[in-house]
Amino acid sequence: MSDFEARARKVLPPVLGHYTWLSIERGEGSWLVTTDGRRVLDMTCGIAVTAVGHSHPRVVKAVVDQAQRLMHISAGVAKYESSIALAEQLATITPRGLDTVFFGNSGAEAVEGAIKLCRQTTGREAIIAFRGGFHGRTVGAATLTTSKAQYRRGYGALLPEVYIAPYPYPLACALPEPHDAEACARHCFAELETMLEHEVPPEHVAAIVIEPVLGEGGYVAAPASFLRSLRELATKIGALLVFDEIQTGMGRTGAWFAAQKFGVTPDVITAAKALGGGLPLGAVISTRERMEKWRTGTHGSTFGGNPVSCASGLATLEVIRDENLVARAETIGAIMVEELAPLRSHPRLREIRRFGAMVAAEFDEKSVAKAAIAASLERDVLLITCGFHDQVVRFIPALNIGESDLRKGMRSFVEAARSAQVASPA
Ligand SMILES: Cc1ncc(COP(=O)(O)O)c(C=O)c1O
Repeated sequence: MSDFEARARKVLPPVLGHYTWLSIERGEGSWLVTTDGRRVLDMTCGIAVTAVGHSHPRVVKAVVDQAQRLMHISAGVAKYESSIALAEQLATITPRGLDTVFFGNSGAEAVEGAIKLCRQTTGREAIIAFRGGFHGRTVGAATLTTSKAQYRRGYGALLPEVYIAPYPYPLACALPEPHDAEACARHCFAELETMLEHEVPPEHVAAIVIEPVLGEGGYVAAPASFLRSLRELATKIGALLVFDEIQTGMGRTGAWFAAQKFGVTPDVITAAKALGGGLPLGAVISTRERMEKWRTGTHGSTFGGNPVSCASGLATLEVIRDENLVARAETIGAIMVEELAPLRSHPRLREIRRFGAMVAAEFDEKSVAKAAIAASLERDVLLITCGFHDQVVRFIPALNIGESDLRKGMRSFVEAARSAQVASPA
């Protein structure tokens, strides 16, 4: 154990899980430099955050300029340019009509805000979420989270009136094999309708909350037909459709928001992660009409939409737009899948999936995925897992990663996964 790790273990609580104990001195674009001078290719973006790479000069300049002028006043006390400008810019890239933004500090906080918005403005209580979803670790968001039971373990009674329906994840579908994604989606939607017949009356439902692409749950995209059915159902029963785009938003999927790629407009979007460009920032985004119904003073935040976070978010959005990175998400996604092709013969591989620049390799069990990412790190490529059992390796490079770095990183992973295959017999 290094000195650094020993110091860290002494002052940090064991509740924090960790993928590595790398000690990072600085980040430069897609590269991390450790305190002992090792250069590691970052294919995690700090869990889908640094979409324009580490310390992009335009983002750093915006942060420094803003910090020199004003670091904090609280949106409840006075207004400032960076938050208004960011909200204005967001309104130009969100799905039609979603033009009003409540800023918070994190993804979980955005989900909490969305729950409160939906409950208060519909006067209803029930929330429907989907098995395998991840929405955060605060108590309300954790109630909606079912990607792993561990996020709920030992926390006692969570939020009442939350109902969990199956997510259309073909490899984890209750339908007997063989079935395709559409058949799985039809099955899941029928289960949801059954839930409304037997467990929760439709007129009790305030919101249907879904990640259009499961993030922590395994990088699985719901079929567009399923999301369209949810849209129709929500409208029919008077509930609000909420897309949790905390991991999918800000260009990652090849559209500013996955909603646009699916052609389905929700009533509410939650955003965070890449939104702040590396500083803490979350947002609940909805229509003016809906937001007008959220009663003044019943929700708020001291730090939400902090001037520096908003300046960072604004500069990040401008870089994504000016460098055409939304379109590039498709290009790098395709490159990643191309480079993964030799892995198709890996006996422990179940599936390679891609939605824009969200790419995943699902193995048959956790030990294989973990061995593959450990062997990748030995080759100076940082990757992390996701999935119900950590059996999925996810690839989340910066949208502006250089093509040769990307190809090299993917080849190192393929080599690493092959060495792991030898190390972990079935
Ligand atoms: C889809 C989704 N929602 C919510 C969250 C929670 O965000 P945070 O960790 O910023 O609270 C995450 C984090 O991984 C996420 O992926």
